[in-house]
Amino acid sequence: MKRLAVLGSTGSIGTSVSRVVARFPDRFAVTALAARGNVELLARQIGLHAPRIAVVADEARAKRLAALLPDSKTEILHGPEGYAQAASLPDVDMVVSAMVGAAGLLPTLAALSAKKTVALANKETLVMAGALVTETARKNGVSILPVDSEHSAIFQCLQGQDRSALARLVLTASGGPFRILEKEALANATPGDALRHPNWTMGKKITIDSATLMNKGLEVIEARWLFDVPVDNIGVVVHPESVIHSMAVFHDGAVLAQMGVPDMLVPIAFALSWPDRLPLAQLVPDLASMGKLTFEEPDTERFPCLKLAYQAAREGGAYPAVLNAANEEAVGAFLDRSLSFPGIAEAVEDALSAFPAPGKLELEDILAADAWARARVARRVDGEV
Ligand SMILES: NC(=O)c1ccc[n+]([C@@H]2O[C@H](COP(=O)([O-])OP(=O)(O)OC[C@H]3O[C@@H](n4cnc5c(N)ncnc54)[C@H](OP(=O)(O)O)[C@@H]3O)[C@@H](O)[C@H]2O)c1
Repeated sequence: MKRLAVLGSTGSIGTSVSRVVARFPDRFAVTALAARGNVELLARQIGLHAPRIAVVADEARAKRLAALLPDSKTEILHGPEGYAQAASLPDVDMVVSAMVGAAGLLPTLAALSAKKTVALANKETLVMAGALVTETARKNGVSILPVDSEHSAIFQCLQGQDRSALARLVLTASGGPFRILEKEALANATPGDALRHPNWTMGKKITIDSATLMNKGLEVIEARWLFDVPVDNIGVVVHPESVIHSMAVFHDGAVLAQMGVPDMLVPIAFALSWPDRLPLAQLVPDLASMGKLTFEEPDTERFPCLKLAYQAAREGGAYPAVLNAANEEAVGAFLDRSLSFPGIAEAVEDALSAFPAPGKLELEDILAADAWARARVARRVDGEV
């Protein structure tokens, strides 16, 4: 029986984790659930999984949650200490890190420091602090297992392979809802348009990141840390059908690809049950009726966020943290219509070019870079810079 702490349990990934657990009750149990503020859904999840601990963002939400569960034995905690506690409980075997954005960093570090295996969906953690996070995992002798479908695909392709024969990685991208939209039309794209992803159903932030191709840029940085491959050996190809989830290229020219229908259940289940595979009985792609799979170069003219992510990754230091925080703020501003769609990339570019890089790179430097970038974007949205 694997005992889980699910951070971000009320999100798109978190609810899929809950589905996997409910389907395989002899394999998984939930010891802790954590979310920000969707107390109604969290209360239902507590009813289903009876965790020992549940955590929300603040005291007011904790009180609302408690009021929904008058007879529950689940202890309700709140705030950063509560998240850190859920991530490091002695009776947890695996922490599923599925909060969205920079909020995932500190709980993920707490989990690794407490020697927990981490199933990582929260790519922002590795973008912000890849060196620190992977070093914390190494020092504590624990693994970070990818949940992201592209990284899960590569992880699956690398099973049983000689790692020294790995030459390159190729991440596939659907191209998002604006793949064939003219550059001029992007200026008028609304949040509603950008949230209509052609192939995947996901939370709002990652859906906007998919529309700008920032998601693929964040994934390049995530792959750099997960698989210890230089960013210049990580390529991106647009593959609108989302059947091939990514590829590993070996030094003899062999290319291994992992395929499947676009459904996060498969990579989530693989991370939870690795090295076993669960009998999910998923549909498989009907290749004959599809006829062909297509591939194209990403267009970084129309979608500069991908280029900016490579730039930040090559600069290293706290630049990826600035990229991530500026993007998070800019996406929020786009969603509440204070920035245009192209304004997201412009705000990120501005933050990267104005950032006064710090000399050191401890956790506090990364958090300071994150705060600096958020303030910079806020000033830009207000027309001050
Ligand atoms: N969705 C996918 O298919 C997918 C695929 C690959 C990778 N990922 C990655 O997985 C992560 C989660 O994505 P998602 O699509 O599941 O996001 P989502 O649907 O927006 O869910 C986010 C979860 O995080 C919680 N949360 C948000 N802000 C928080 C904060 N400040 N403190 C604590 N908890 C907070 C939310 O709680 P409340 O809802 O209660 O507020 C919710 O449980 C992201 O890093 C994303 O890039 C997602």
